[in-house]
Amino acid sequence: MKIDVVLTPHLLPPRFEDALCVVIDVLRATTTIVAALANGASEVRPCITAAEARRSAKSENDIPFLLGGERRGLRIPGFHLGNSPAEYLDSSKISGRVVYFSTTNGTPALRRAYKGSARPVYLAALVNMSAVSSAIIRAATNNALKKIFLICAGRQGRASLEDTYCAGLIVSRLQSGLAKYGISPEPGDAAILAAEYSRMNVENPLAVLATSEHGRYLQSIGFADDLEYASRKDIYDIVPYFDGQRIIISSE
Ligand code: MLT
Repeated sequence: MKIDVVLTPHLLPPRFEDALCVVIDVLRATTTIVAALANGASEVRPCITAAEARRSAKSENDIPFLLGGERRGLRIPGFHLGNSPAEYLDSSKISGRVVYFSTTNGTPALRRAYKGSARPVYLAALVNMSAVSSAIIRAATNNALKKIFLICAGRQGRASLEDTYCAGLIVSRLQSGLAKYGISPEPGDAAILAAEYSRMNVENPLAVLATSEHGRYLQSIGFADDLEYASRKDIYDIVPYFDGQRIIISSE
């Protein structure tokens, strides 16, 4: 079995049906989606454009919904919510709602991962990384998996420190977890790089986020608190997955 970190979705091959995929967007899409689902959102629909989100919500408007997402880090005009996890913590506002969600890098990465693999895609962030790692280990021991791709949403086609860091932590978890079952996955070079970087910074998630380009940008537009929130490891024990239509919590 191979395990690799895909530093940006632009590096994905056209098809990769043999891979189990995990999409990571620590700042902030997957952190926010995990928070929304943990606080009772019934599902999240990842949309590429704001127009797609509005259109889909309109076509299914017999169910309670929210429009959420960002461009340049700020709430899309006319949407109920932006992409700050803090906006998704009040379960009285979130519970039972379908969230039509569109972000710059995170939601396109999810759609791309599903399109290429044609199988459910897990969502990971620092806030749920152990739960996702355990789910991958279960999947790997129950099925004959050939490949695991940890896909970093990155930033406009470039690698990002915070996603690479989270991916590296998951690589290390997978290596040690799978070793207990006698499986030693073969890491690609980007997986080795990410694991090494995360080992060097294992105790300093907030510093990693604050050093990153996107972290600096978010601080400059007033979202310093989101970095603090997104840096908290394992505050949620849920494993969301995207089935090509919607993101829901796995019950396995
Ligand atoms: C994205 O999907 O590009 C991000 O989550 C951007 C953001 O921090 O809002």
